Amino acid sequence: MLVKNINSICCIGAGYVGGPTMAVVADNCPDIKVTIVDLNEERIKLWNSNDLTKIPIFEPGLKEIISRVRNKNLFFTTDVENSIKNSDMVFISVNTPTKTKGIGAGKASDISWVEACTRQVASNAIGETIIVEKSTIPVRTAEAIKTILENNSKKNSKSDACSFTVLSNPEFLAEGTAVKDLQNPDRILIGGEDEESIQALKNIYLNWVAEEKIITTNLWSSELSKLTANAFLAQRISSINSISALCEVTGADIDEVKKAIGLDTRIGKKFLNAGPGFGGSCFKKDILNLTYLCQHFGLPEVSSYWEQVVSINNWQIYRIYKMVINKLFGNVTNKKIAILGFSFKANTNDTRESPAIFICKELLVEGALLSIHDPKVSLAQIITELGDIGEENRSNWSHQIDLDETYDDADAIIILTEWEQYRNINWDLVSSKMKSPSWVFDTRKIVNPKKIKNCDFNFWQVGLGNNI
Ligand code: NAD
Ligand code: UDX
Repeated sequence: MLVKNINSICCIGAGYVGGPTMAVVADNCPDIKVTIVDLNEERIKLWNSNDLTKIPIFEPGLKEIISRVRNKNLFFTTDVENSIKNSDMVFISVNTPTKTKGIGAGKASDISWVEACTRQVASNAIGETIIVEKSTIPVRTAEAIKTILENNSKKNSKSDACSFTVLSNPEFLAEGTAVKDLQNPDRILIGGEDEESIQALKNIYLNWVAEEKIITTNLWSSELSKLTANAFLAQRISSINSISALCEVTGADIDEVKKAIGLDTRIGKKFLNAGPGFGGSCFKKDILNLTYLCQHFGLPEVSSYWEQVVSINNWQIYRIYKMVINKLFGNVTNKKIAILGFSFKANTNDTRESPAIFICKELLVEGALLSIHDPKVSLAQIITELGDIGEENRSNWSHQIDLDETYDDADAIIILTEWEQYRNINWDLVSSKMKSPSWVFDTRKIVNPKKIKNCDFNFWQVGLGNNI
């Protein structure tokens, strides 16, 4: 077997996956030149910013890696064509959002961006090129990629000496722990048909990942495993959230239930935290895509089974919202509500599908006055996420930099993201600054009920309710 030596990599897409993933590859493979390309000039400019606090993605440990490898063997550019031309391996790491129109709208994945970069690869690659699917895509997308490459490369004048192989190499990193996940992955999954290409990709990972953690499958198993992993993870959250509602009305405590079931090694302890419902760019999109695929392949029962995971998630955030309104006497007009956390989870500045977006929009529509705090989410991002509702009610909400100023005169506080600094709040002090009567709603179960026993506010916690 003649395994190709990979000297240069191009990654199309400088987003939450492309940026951190390629930074870790460059850090561990000093002999490989890694170039990350993106159409978004502003994003590339920020990645190249001298001030490392300005790089577009916040992930613990990322800026340290960027400072080590940027402009040594890691480069950010908008020059897509030349980067493809000069690469032995091209990673496709572009967005694959849910389709908004046409057949499958609201469920199927829109693979237009994957298709567009496949065409760019077809017309610019020289020699043997290995294309790696990093984006999460519907099962059998590799077939479409291969067809596009075969057809378009024939039209390419340089194509005589041109050949392609396609691999699937889904990414399992979670935001907030991306660097840790990439440096020490549970497994690396490579799907493909061509043994030499598989080995070439495997050799890259072998620079820092143990061989037994690298598994290989056929293309379709690899593509489907990514959707399945996300569906199983999201299912755990919907399961625990459904039980959190039952705890609140029965006097059980979700943390105690979680501990009791998690000690069963078949269930396991991880990923059982009740909350306001999962957010993020992946879970909802990938499950909806899975349900669409099941429908497409004639499996409506399987489709509706997985659809329930998303339904429970929507219900969880809605029931929490309704409960907040009820506790505030069914009226929030002109009431000041402090929102603690706007990102979809801690340690990221990503707000995609964050439960905070729904809660804030609905509260603004009801006439509430919001004081929004998040340690990493910018005002510009909040403006974008709140959209028209935010703009119509611009004088009714503010973005707070200083956490201490967020609670002044508040009728209620809603904790929506589990940022570390919210775990260490001096609740005695906060309670003295709030109106009376007032409420604290902890949707992340991060406040220790024992520590607020003497505080002058009412308290509600997910999976516990008022049973403190
Ligand atoms: P993202 O939106 O942050 O980044 C995608 C980037 O691709 C954008 O900057 C966009 O401008 C660029 N792009 C699109 N088309 C392009 C083209 N033709 N040429 C050059 N650049 C182009 O998305 P992301 O969160 O990094 O996700 C990328 C993929 O990885 C998705 O399929 C997603 O489902 C999957 N994924 C994401 C995560 C995550 O935690 N975000 C984890 C695992 C897998
Ligand atoms: C997820 C998958 O975990 C990752 O493997 C995949 O590559 C991308 O999608 P991500 O969405 O970044 O990662 O974060 P994750 O930690 O999975 O959290 C997703 C959402 O679920 C967040 O809103 C989080 O707050 C919520 N969550 C997570 C819970 O409510 N409870 C938990 O126990 C875990």
